[in-house]
Amino acid sequence: MTTIDYNHRIPNNVDLADDRKLTRALESWMPSFENWWRDMGPQGFEAADVYLRTAVNTNIHRESAWGHTKLTDYRWGIFLTDPEPDRKISHGEFKGMDVWQDVPGEFRNPLRRLIVVQGDTEPASVEQQRHLGATAPSIYDMRGLFQVNVEEGRHLWAMVYLLDRFFGRDGREEAQALLERHSGDADKPRILGAFNEPTPDWLSFFMFTYFTDRDGKFQLASLAESAFDPLSRTCNFMLREEAHHMFIGTTGVERVVQRACEVMREIGSDHPDDVRASGAIDLPTIQRYLNFHYSVSLDLFGAELSSNAATYFSAGLKGRFREITIDDDHVLTDAVYPVLSPNGLIIEKDEPALQALNTALQDEYIDDCAKGVKKWNRAIHAAGIDFELVLPHRGFHREVGQFADVHVTPDGGLVDREAWEARRDDWLPSPSDRSFVESLMIPVVEPGKMAGWIAPPASGINGQPIEYEYVKLRAA
Ligand SMILES: [Fe+2]
Ligand SMILES: [Fe+2]
Repeated sequence: MTTIDYNHRIPNNVDLADDRKLTRALESWMPSFENWWRDMGPQGFEAADVYLRTAVNTNIHRESAWGHTKLTDYRWGIFLTDPEPDRKISHGEFKGMDVWQDVPGEFRNPLRRLIVVQGDTEPASVEQQRHLGATAPSIYDMRGLFQVNVEEGRHLWAMVYLLDRFFGRDGREEAQALLERHSGDADKPRILGAFNEPTPDWLSFFMFTYFTDRDGKFQLASLAESAFDPLSRTCNFMLREEAHHMFIGTTGVERVVQRACEVMREIGSDHPDDVRASGAIDLPTIQRYLNFHYSVSLDLFGAELSSNAATYFSAGLKGRFREITIDDDHVLTDAVYPVLSPNGLIIEKDEPALQALNTALQDEYIDDCAKGVKKWNRAIHAAGIDFELVLPHRGFHREVGQFADVHVTPDGGLVDREAWEARRDDWLPSPSDRSFVESLMIPVVEPGKMAGWIAPPASGINGQPIEYEYVKLRAA
């Protein structure tokens, strides 16, 4: 079992102390990172002490240390899960051979690209969330936000480690560029669309951590299948942190739903205007936010039919979700996979499985997304309210892939552009929905108290009570 070296300036379990060249590369990147965190990270809480967890070891039964720390004192580090002895390549042309401890020359470019695209999402979400601390609905939620932020910062470190350690000068340049692109920047935007969308309010934040962090889970899980072992071990460790981000999303949305239901029962009305007048977020508005975040997150998987995905798989760079549990030859040269495509009607057609890997990953994602929705619906039904949240059709509101050029309704109908645009505000958050939600974003900083639009959590974090002082605010 690996323990983490906390004596090094950069906590790590990759023997940095023995690698002066790599240490120098990382230490010369560190000031840029610190500047970026100061300029683009959480705004206005430099002096606050936040109850955060950090890794103590990277054992599968993870242990964490918990304590109050300033965000600027958080110790970002480089943690990989322990190597799996005799690990073999699980898929593609080299299936059954030993995994690689270094980058094969012929796969240098595609591997670097995969790492850069994943790496780019990590600081992007920190940028998207940088103003949310100021409107947290509780100290408990503020802590959750900052935990996500520091861990996304650490994920950036994880990717920069791979770039610096294995990709020489190109890698160092990419590491710099990861701090130069910014979410929503007109000239140098982040690579993927959803990471350039603003996260202006806490309903968006919870939807983002539910739907977009979950895309991260599936991307990381398929990179964890990589033949390039250091990438696999890096992603396996990141996945554990990711689980907590999705917990924040699942429970966050659930609490907003619960509060809406409580208010509906109190006032004896389910009319959205009445719910809003009582300071809660009506369920149809929650549905529209869900539609938005789900559809932009589906775009992150890339085109449903993709020759890049085929190349990555065949070369062993990126596998499928839980590759070894799938019952087939793991090479897929003759296999087919059903893919939906809009041709006058939306029809399912068998396509070459290698081309359809992004669809296969999307299918796993969609099943996983449905679980939380089911949980939210249970809360609605438990309150005796007749309403059901649903995932819209996978072709709804898409900008990437098979459905990019057509107009699909949430229940899967194909309509023309005009008809679709006429209903847009029924299906996606309208400017007035957004300004209503924004009007609720009044900070609540007294420990244990919650904003009126969200129910308290079922329990506190790490066994602490809900009214624990998760963030100690101090004047800067
Ligand atoms: Fe992440
Ligand atoms: Fe995340």
